[in-house]
Amino acid sequence: MSLLFTLRKLGKLEIKNRFVRAPTHENMSTAAGEVTDGLVAVYRTLAKGEVGLIFTGIMYVHPLGRSYTYQVGIDRNEVVPGLRRLTDAVHKEGGKIFFQLIHGGRQTTKKLIGQTPLAPSSTGRDPLYFVKPKEMTEQEIGEAIRAFGAAARRAYESGADGIHIGGAGGYLINEFLSPFFNRRNDTWGGSNRNRFRFLEEIIVAVKSAIPGDVPVTVKINAHDYTPKEGITPDLAKEYAAWLVRLGIDGLEVASGTITYSNMNLWLGQVPLKEYVSSLPFWKRPIGRLLLRPMVGKYNLREGWNLEAVKMMKPVMGGIPLFLVGGIRRVDHMEEVLQNDDTQFISMCRPFIREPLLVKKIKQGETKAASCISCNKCVGAVPNELPVRCYRQGLPASAGRRG
Ligand SMILES: Cc1cc2nc3c(=O)[nH]c(=O)nc-3n(C[C@H](O)[C@H](O)[C@H](O)COP(=O)(O)O)c2cc1C
Repeated sequence: MSLLFTLRKLGKLEIKNRFVRAPTHENMSTAAGEVTDGLVAVYRTLAKGEVGLIFTGIMYVHPLGRSYTYQVGIDRNEVVPGLRRLTDAVHKEGGKIFFQLIHGGRQTTKKLIGQTPLAPSSTGRDPLYFVKPKEMTEQEIGEAIRAFGAAARRAYESGADGIHIGGAGGYLINEFLSPFFNRRNDTWGGSNRNRFRFLEEIIVAVKSAIPGDVPVTVKINAHDYTPKEGITPDLAKEYAAWLVRLGIDGLEVASGTITYSNMNLWLGQVPLKEYVSSLPFWKRPIGRLLLRPMVGKYNLREGWNLEAVKMMKPVMGGIPLFLVGGIRRVDHMEEVLQNDDTQFISMCRPFIREPLLVKKIKQGETKAASCISCNKCVGAVPNELPVRCYRQGLPASAGRRG
């Protein structure tokens, strides 16, 4: 029998197969960060499609940690009943769901959060938002850590089966972990151990807020691909060993940052037209000029984080790894499981296009995801459209904001 359809545990929790819906920001909450009927439907469909484990998209744990207008918030108790709708929908279909908790750090705008975005260090303006962030004080760091703990408690009260800590993608935890973003010389920076401390304290806060048998998994970058060296696979391996010692139940290994290495997050086609149309009219010529040289340079590579995952394996002590990024063919999935390189197969864009993909594979209807990595789903986000497969192009209403 295919390993893809065998059970595997995360801590004490049994996952019915090896398919994981990688965290996917849907851009579908209300402007106040509440769950909508549309979002509930997305999760119900995924669970109906028999995905073993569903990671939600990024949920902001603190109002200053919000990155998108239509992003789900888990920063206050009032959102719990709405979040409960997500978990109920998934559980009714026999699925499992982990909430991904995030603080956006510098990857947001003053307009959205009402003040200068926070980061470990106040380094340079990034090429996307042009944000020069404010260096966080001890007090602000403590507040962010406590916010993760409180959010984990809300996730548990909402019926989530586990917590997925968002430490990748260039958001705040990633910024603390990365020597490129974190230039501090106090106890939060200056050495790998110190740069790890923010994530460490978050894990402690999260674990103490929920019962001990609720699994906690983490997503980190193995490659930041920032202009100067950030996280590399060697550093990620060091972090992985420390994470295992902290008692995490699984590790998802990714790459890229939203602001400095956007296309490394997903690879594939540059959604040039979609990115440009999200800009105000006066910025479009410069946007086109900056983006055009990127076209053709980020072709999808099958399982591009596999080498990094293989490097992590020896320090994992049997704790499962989640391989994400460019996994499309069933034969390839079987191979990496067979080799025990990874224990779970995480996919994002394939499930945007085909939420019922697992069922189709199970029934022998397909041997590969049909996603072509055109990245128009990615382009939907800055256009403030719901994330879905837009292979035929975004609706005509996109780009009218200018
Ligand atoms: C539209 C879109 C939204 C995403 N949202 C998130 C997110 O909320 N949290 C996260 O950790 N990664 C997010 N990612 C990254 C994916 O989880 C994944 O790491 C990446 O897309 C590579 O996997 P794939 O080739 O299967 O798409 C997102 C990717 C896409 C395309």
